[in-house]
Amino acid sequence: MSHVYISHAPQDLDDLLKLHEALRAASIADWYAPDGDNDRVRNNAAIDDASAMVVLVSAASVRSKAVRQDVERAKARGLTMIPYQIDKARLTGFFKQEVQPHLRLSNAMPDGLDQLVGEVQKAYRRKCPVFAVMNLKGGVGKTTVSAQVFGAWHAAIGGRVLLIDLDPQYNLTQTFYSMDFADESAARDRSVISLFERSRLHMRDAASPAENWLGLSTEPFAPVARSYLVHDIMAGGDSPSGRFDLISGQFEISKYAFATDLTALEQIKRHFLRTVEYYRSEYDLIVFDTNPNATFLTRCALEASDRVIAPMHTDIYSLRGVKLLQQVIQQQVDPATRPDLSVLFNAVRRSEQSTFEADARNGAFDAVAGFPLSKALMNSALPRSRHLAVKAPQEGQPPWKQLTIHAGRGGGLKPIRESLKTIAMELNALESARA
Ligand SMILES: Nc1ncnc2c1ncn2[C@@H]1O[C@H](COP(=O)(O)OP(=O)(O)OP(=O)(O)O)[C@@H](O)[C@H]1O
Ligand SMILES: [Mg+2]
Repeated sequence: MSHVYISHAPQDLDDLLKLHEALRAASIADWYAPDGDNDRVRNNAAIDDASAMVVLVSAASVRSKAVRQDVERAKARGLTMIPYQIDKARLTGFFKQEVQPHLRLSNAMPDGLDQLVGEVQKAYRRKCPVFAVMNLKGGVGKTTVSAQVFGAWHAAIGGRVLLIDLDPQYNLTQTFYSMDFADESAARDRSVISLFERSRLHMRDAASPAENWLGLSTEPFAPVARSYLVHDIMAGGDSPSGRFDLISGQFEISKYAFATDLTALEQIKRHFLRTVEYYRSEYDLIVFDTNPNATFLTRCALEASDRVIAPMHTDIYSLRGVKLLQQVIQQQVDPATRPDLSVLFNAVRRSEQSTFEADARNGAFDAVAGFPLSKALMNSALPRSRHLAVKAPQEGQPPWKQLTIHAGRGGGLKPIRESLKTIAMELNALESARA
């Protein structure tokens, strides 16, 4: 569990301590710079790991460079900001623009501090939605959707997004990083296997589960701090702001498909679910890219997710993949944790709707699919575009440049970016309605 960051000016020590005590009474961990000093590297790291930021707004803090830099960092990282006014300071300039719109609480209100603790608690305990991009058919655009639709989600909606590469082919990882980088990261267990088994990431002298091809380690472990495990795709000086992270994939997780010890597998699944649950309070959205066949990994992804997004082509083979997927969801996942299903047509012609798509939307395939496919279909669809064709990352180029929403030049980019954003907005609306 991360902490709540308190941004303050050194002059406001009394109010800081009052807040600290109130948070402690509510069992909420906090972090603040000792004496309000401005060690940017350390303060930025603490902001990046925080679940929210409280800004003590006062005559002293609106003049403080450190507080201003805290607020800028929180904004750039998509962190929830909860300002709390502690004197009659008037907000002008930067503070008027960036802080005032969020300012609703002050210590002049009789229950101001209680309300503040309540707000902090909400942010601190919040669990973000989890999506699995899945279809039991290969090559329908799962990896493309995972990277590009959610890159657009991040650009349009903001917040902190975590992609997890659950496919042993690890194409999603290779979308952003070179194969060497991915393999080198996996060699240190800074990769997806550390969600399932205790690894060198958890204990320096532990054996690597990736090297134990036949065995499964059921040793319990505590999830490591996010920053030890993820890769920051938005790293780099001129990158777009915000957090867009990746837990990189590796081939070795395909060993679970061969394991015969069902008790051990069950334990490993529990590790995975618990670890994902832990990271849910550190992000605003988690997305799995998944493998195209039904395996242990499919079960893990389904049990952890709130929504399955199934990309499909406008053909009967994709339809069959979605039908099987729906059967697996119905038969294998407990109704209490069963994810919703949203089906997304991919690689459609922009100029005109195909007969297949029109028929599917009219319910003509509901009987063949064995469920009301027409109701599960998203209104928006992803057109075929050369800007979505895979291209290997180029050496020396930052990983975020692989996102269609941010990089590239050429005809047709504007409409495809619009389509990606429209899909992201529709998913966001579906999720808001569910919550
Ligand atoms: N809308 C699109 N327009 C153009 N090309 C696309 C589009 N969607 C996917 N592709 C291309 O189709 C190929 C397959 O896509 P992708 O790798 O995303 O599928 P997948 O479902 O993840 O495959 P797998 O089952 O192997 O994991 C890739 O070369 C990708 O670039
Ligand atoms: Mg894929």
